Amino acid sequence: MMRIALFGPPGAGKGTIANVLREKTGAVHIATGDLLREEQKKQTELGEKARGYMEKGELVPDELVIAILQQRLQQADAAEQGFILDGFPRTIAQAKILDSYLRENGRQLQAIFDLQVPEDVIIERLSARTICPGCGAVYNEITMPPKTDNKCDRCGAELVKRADDRPEAIKVRFEAYRKQTEPLLEYYQPSGLLNKVDATRGAEASADKILNMLETK
Ligand code: AP5
Repeated sequence: MMRIALFGPPGAGKGTIANVLREKTGAVHIATGDLLREEQKKQTELGEKARGYMEKGELVPDELVIAILQQRLQQADAAEQGFILDGFPRTIAQAKILDSYLRENGRQLQAIFDLQVPEDVIIERLSARTICPGCGAVYNEITMPPKTDNKCDRCGAELVKRADDRPEAIKVRFEAYRKQTEPLLEYYQPSGLLNKVDATRGAEASADKILNMLETK
């Protein structure tokens, strides 16, 4: 059963690849960014607390994200179908909590895939990203446009830009990635779980590469 985490800078394609892997394997896609945006849409206290950080591009405090992730991992589908973590862990504190939570529940990560994409490609991808405010589907005006102009293929809603895809917020997200998230690569190095994946090609090819790497483990 798949139990993996996808690492990589903002816009590397974590969500897009996770979605392909979900379709191919039936594992549950757990993206803390999506869970937090969902809380904002429902205007919960947690969502409102997270909003300011997210719009600026800063990381949301660990205790808020850990609470939301644990709630999601406790649901039966994650235990029964496996999971693909996207955007979690993002700090050493989150990684330590995740490791002990999984250990206590008799589970452990099978592998971590660190998506490698040059920064100029990422900036192009983020500048052209659109999302569906209804169902959360992700598109790209250049590389993955919807079938009908600016309308979601799944639910027909008008596509919008993400609030943190403004150039100033992208810059802050990259800084947060370098300072707070990149040190995780060193943290996980001794575990032997880390694998680098070239994610400059199509999402389908990157997902297949991940599945092949898992088979040979
Ligand atoms: P989150 O939603 O996780 O944002 P992110 O890490 O910045 O990642 P993105 O969703 O921007 O990119 P992605 O790698 O998923 O790329 P995508 O597939 O969309 O987090 C948002 C915020 O929430 C954070 O800033 C923070 O505030 C908070 N947060 C979340 N988790 C947290 C945590 N654990 N701790 C603290 N705070 C947390 O692709 C990008 C674009 O490229 C799309 O347009 C897509 O169509 C296109 N694309 C993707 N792959 C390809 C490809 N192979 N070829 C061509 N185009 C492609």
